[in-house]
Order: sequence, then C-alpha cells, then structure tokens
Amino acid sequence: MMLEHKVRIPASPGAGYTISIGTGILGALWARLEADFGRHSKFVVTDEHLVSAGHLNTLLGGRDVPAFVISPAGETAKTIHTVTSIIEAMEKAYLGRDTLVIALGGGTVGDIAGFAAAIFKRGVPIVHIPTTTVAQADSSIGGKTGIDSSLSKNAFGAFWHPAAVYIDVATVGTLDDRQFRAGLVESVKHAIIADSQYLDYLEANLDAVLQQKPEVLEHVTHWNCKIKGSVVEADPSERNKRRILNYGHTVGHAVEAASGFELLHGEAVAVGIIAAGMIEEQMQLCEPGRLERIRGILEKLGVPVRLPGNMAEENLIDLIKRDKKAVNKWPRFVLIAKIGEVYRQGGQYAVEVAPDVVMNVLERL
Ligand SMILES: NC(=O)c1ccc[n+]([C@@H]2O[C@H](COP(=O)([O-])OP(=O)(O)OC[C@H]3O[C@@H](n4cnc5c(N)ncnc54)[C@H](O)[C@@H]3O)[C@@H](O)[C@H]2O)c1
Ligand SMILES: [Zn+2]
Repeated sequence: MMLEHKVRIPASPGAGYTISIGTGILGALWARLEADFGRHSKFVVTDEHLVSAGHLNTLLGGRDVPAFVISPAGETAKTIHTVTSIIEAMEKAYLGRDTLVIALGGGTVGDIAGFAAAIFKRGVPIVHIPTTTVAQADSSIGGKTGIDSSLSKNAFGAFWHPAAVYIDVATVGTLDDRQFRAGLVESVKHAIIADSQYLDYLEANLDAVLQQKPEVLEHVTHWNCKIKGSVVEADPSERNKRRILNYGHTVGHAVEAASGFELLHGEAVAVGIIAAGMIEEQMQLCEPGRLERIRGILEKLGVPVRLPGNMAEENLIDLIKRDKKAVNKWPRFVLIAKIGEVYRQGGQYAVEVAPDVVMNVLERL
C-alpha cells in the first residue's frame, strides 16, 4: 500500500510530480523506476552511509548501475568539486541527455545531486529517494538544489524540480537518533504554520513517531508533503508565500551559526520556534498556553528549547542582521496568528519586529 501526493508546478515540464510514500518499498523501487522512467539511462548518487546501511544494495538488488558514492558524507561534501566529480563520472559512463539521476540519501545528497542534474548537459531529470527525516519532510520536495562556496552556504544553486519522489519511511530506521529527532522539528514547524489538526495528531502520536511506527511515519510524511507541496505550488521559486517555511529559522539560523554548527539545523530551529513564540507573546498574537504546548512537544522530541549557556545575545543579533533575507540589515519575521495560520501584515507573510523586542526575547531565552 502506497500513499501518493501530487505536487503541481505550473512552470515545470510535465507540470508536476508524484510523491509516493510507503514502508519497506525500497527493494521494489527499481522495477517502479523502470516502469516510470524506462527510456532513461540511470545514474545513482548516494553517500557512504547509505552504502554501509545497506540501502544502496536494497535499491539496486544486484543490478549493475553506474553510481557515485559521496565520501566523506555530510555538509563538507556540498562543494563544486563534488559536483565536478559527479559530472565527470557521468561522462565516463557515456551518459547523455537521456540520463535520469537518482538521489538516494539525505538533504546533502539531494542538494548535490539535484544541482549536478540541473547543469549536466544543460539539465537532466532527477528523482529523489530521501532517507532522513529532514529530506523526507523538507528537502526532497520543493526543487531547491545547491552547494556551498568557501564563504557561504548554498552559494551555487538552481531551482530544479524532481520528476518524482519515492519515500520509504523505513529507511530512517538506520539514521542516527539525534539526526532523526532533529529532522522532526521541520514537521512540527509545518503543523504550526499550516494545520492545527496536524499539530493535534503529532502531539497525540509523538511516542509512536519516536518508536517509528510505520503507519504513523507514513501519515506524518504524507502530511508534510501536502503542506510543503501546497506552499511550493503556490510559490515555486520563493517570491512570497514560500517564506512561511522560514518560521523559526531567522533566530534558528543565527543560533546554528553561533554554535559553530555544533547544533544540528533542526535543533537550532527548535530554539528559533520558541523565540518566534515568545515574540508572538510580546506582540500579543498568542493565545494563553500556546507557547507552553509547543515547548512541550519539542521537549518530548528531545531537542533544545533554550539558548546554550555560552551564547552571547549581541553575537546573535549580529548574526540575525546578516540573515540573507534581511532588508536594511534587519530581517522580517514569520509569526503565527494562531496554530495553522501565519500572521500577515499588508499582505506580507513576514513582518517587522522591533530589535529591542528580539533582544528582550533572546535575553529570556
Ligand atoms: N533543498 C532544500 O530545500 C533543503 C531543505 C532543508 C535542508 N537542505 C539541506 O540538506 C542538508 C541536510 O540534510 P540532512 O539533514 O538530511 O543531512 P545529511 O544528508 O547530511 O544526512 C545526515 C547524515 O546521515 C547519513 N544518512 C542519511 N540517511 C541515512 C540513513 N537512512 N541511514 C543512516 N545514515 C544516513 C548521511 O550520510 C549523513 O552522514 C543541508 O545541506 C541543508 O542545507 C536542503
Ligand atoms: Zn529548516
């Protein structure tokens, strides 16, 4: 049994793609890929941990398919050098414009492979098989690809929407527990900004999520795909509405950087979500008990809900001023009016918050 969700992208060839969600489907996926993309030559991009966890073998089932294994895995691989190596590996395998790139892995693999696909021979299709909670909820849906320069994250990139996404929720079973939990913060974020019923569901089923009950993970993943998919449909190239996905990220990114990237992205965003809630309280956008409820969910996930002791507020303010979405050195904040509904001012999804309000919140955080 597979759940399916269609994301319609008006500007993209084929006008959209299907996300298929199931448990233990990886071993049968190749036949499905042959059925869906039979005329394409296949090239797999993955990383060393997907190989050691056995997922590449399960996908290929003994077939001889050209593949590139990123090593060492992780953010440091997101460079132009890796992309060059991938493109040259495709050339060495005599691949041309009929190539289908298959990304098996987390957000790192997806971002690298997506960018390589976007530029190989002026662009070839890609399908994503995401294997982390971050990638299954967030990075595989939406078409953003990119790699880092020596100066900044995602300095090179392209919007390159996938031809299909196949999610086997069982693959997260081999993921490190801390990564697993941190990635779930994006699910909590989706619920907060878009769907109060989803937040009720997450809250009621959090134990089952943490125990990785298949039907619960499938349900959560389906909900994530619907929410992220609908935001992407409304704004495929991030001009307006897509900014709501930045909830908790303005302070979150600053906290992530201030930790010297010791904190995982999702862990820093958890702190950022609490900061957004405190700003909402100060701006009287918050009904009683809302922030406590969200804090309770994040605490149960085992992610941080306050600033690590060694972080200076001034340093964070400086980092917030460097937010890539800042205008006149001060970013706008995504806030919610109530669970499931983003607060809007003059049609804008991100609103101004006075620096002293933010400073006050950081001091109490
Ligand atoms: N394009 C987007 O819209 C978007 C959105 C969010 C994040 N991202 C990017 O995604 C990256 C982070 O992605 P991530 O959190 O998935 O991290 P990741 O891809 O680096 O994976 C984390 C670690 O887990 C390993 N791993 C992955 N799947 C595994 C599995 N099933 N079993 C065992 N090990 C496994 C990886 O090898 C890696 O060591 C960042 O570079 C971020 O910028 C992109
Ligand atoms: Zn995020």
